[in-house]
Amino acid sequence: MTEVKDKQWWKEAVAYQVYPRSFNDSNNDGIGDLRGLIEKLDYLKDLGIDVIWLSPMYASPNDDNGYDISDYHAIMKEFGTMEDFDELLEKVHDKGMKLILDLVVNHTSDEHPWFIESRSSLDNPKRDWYFWADPKEDGSEPNNWESIFNGSTWEFDEKTGQYYFHLFSKKQPDLNWENPEVRQAVIDMMNWWFDKGIDGFRVDAITHVKKTFEMGDLSIPEDKKYAPVYDAATNQPGLQDWLQQVKDESLSKYDIMTVGEANGVNPYNADEWVGRKNGKFNMIFQFEHLGLWNTGESQFDVQSYKNVLNRWQKELENTGWNALFIENHDQPRRVSTWGNDDKYWYESATSHAAVYFLQQGTPFIYQGQEIGMTNFPFTSIEQFNDVSVKNEYRIVKEDGGDTEALLEKHRMENRDNSRTPMQWNNSAYAGFSEVDPWFPVNPNYTEINVEQQEADPNSILQFYKDLIQLKKSDDIYTYGEFNLVDAENSKVFAYTRTLGDKKVLIVGNLTDETAKLNTSLDVQFDNIKLHNYDTEINLSEIKPFETFVISL
Ligand code: GLC
Ligand code: CA
Repeated sequence: MTEVKDKQWWKEAVAYQVYPRSFNDSNNDGIGDLRGLIEKLDYLKDLGIDVIWLSPMYASPNDDNGYDISDYHAIMKEFGTMEDFDELLEKVHDKGMKLILDLVVNHTSDEHPWFIESRSSLDNPKRDWYFWADPKEDGSEPNNWESIFNGSTWEFDEKTGQYYFHLFSKKQPDLNWENPEVRQAVIDMMNWWFDKGIDGFRVDAITHVKKTFEMGDLSIPEDKKYAPVYDAATNQPGLQDWLQQVKDESLSKYDIMTVGEANGVNPYNADEWVGRKNGKFNMIFQFEHLGLWNTGESQFDVQSYKNVLNRWQKELENTGWNALFIENHDQPRRVSTWGNDDKYWYESATSHAAVYFLQQGTPFIYQGQEIGMTNFPFTSIEQFNDVSVKNEYRIVKEDGGDTEALLEKHRMENRDNSRTPMQWNNSAYAGFSEVDPWFPVNPNYTEINVEQQEADPNSILQFYKDLIQLKKSDDIYTYGEFNLVDAENSKVFAYTRTLGDKKVLIVGNLTDETAKLNTSLDVQFDNIKLHNYDTEINLSEIKPFETFVISL
């Protein structure tokens, strides 16, 4: 047996993201809730899940479905009570799983008492907990920065005649981390949840916490009214000092797991984020592999996907740790975008699954991904719930622009695609609820649902179960070294994992065409660990979206 260095429980874990609003409705009001999640814990256990990441369940007026928090110490009324939460945590632990929460501290809701105080007067003690600024001489916004959710980042407040800053929606004012009192309040709140027994945090929008306002007006692209803000509000100098404080005064004191949402981080600056010594978090969700698919124009680009993920694998080797994911509540369904949800629905869902899941890192599954849920068939812009699209729609309408084109633009990649209710069975409303849910169920629930796939040994769900069991069957899938095979192959993503004298080969054709793998490895077919076709494997003729794992 090879000795593995630096073993950690969170490296061996398989994680599952629950978007509570859409997971399971226990009291039939059309909205998912905490008791609904409690009812499904056995399902998650049976799937092989170790860690549940719960998207925000805190008190919130729901401008951005819980990512706008009005009380960090209370549960959203629609989701239940703190007693329900305590029971959830206890039951998760009883079943040998762990629970991590979403830490949303770039901003609060405008209905949070801190902001209500802050906006009440110029000299309120909490005035400086948020960013306030005077209008320009002509009365316009303090600068020309654009919100990530469209429109200006500044909202005028009549009461005191100043603007406040919001990187996301105007109901999500940004906290001013420059103020030590704010950092202290965040740290105290984190420790309150850790003392309650939660097992970690997914840390929302954390690369945006520091802004360089000194940069002033930025250049505006021709077709825009405001300036994209990434250069002034992502990964700014000084951010790491604040995160170090968070690590010293909170994270380092507990046996927990942390994953930062890290838009804008690349493998070369990842050390300060996830480096064994310098890192502030155990792992991060990086974004580099997400934008590899363009509406209509081109197909999913296998080569770029491979290049990006290979770079992350090699740069973090022995120094950091990757979080592996292809879907979440902000992304469309991959089987509809990167795969083919029509002719190769099963094959493309499973091939994409094996390819990302068996790399080195902690894999995350987003609810419904494990049954191959697809994008929603949007037919009108009015169907969207996402605050970002709603803002854009309002702005385009005000400017007399083409609102029809917006539907086309967002149909495939908007954030609502992954937020439709979970498809549990083929009864009305997919078994999610007995009443019409807050967001429509995808009409394909009669064919795509958990119950049907539990009864089918050749289902996507069964493939995920096998994949998870395989990953847990040997340290090689967690700790083994990653190396690309046939790196220049434009259709097939293939790699080996190596631990001591053991080696496994993972192959996935990510196209709908037959492909060929070029390799000098001596591949014998007597120890196939996983395969999504029931035909014989032929390396010179790999079928559309065929995937397999072979022990060499
Ligand atoms: C993150 C979340 C997203 C949310 C935003 C603002 O990107 O994943 O859902 O809207 O932060 O909190
Ligand atoms: Ca409910």
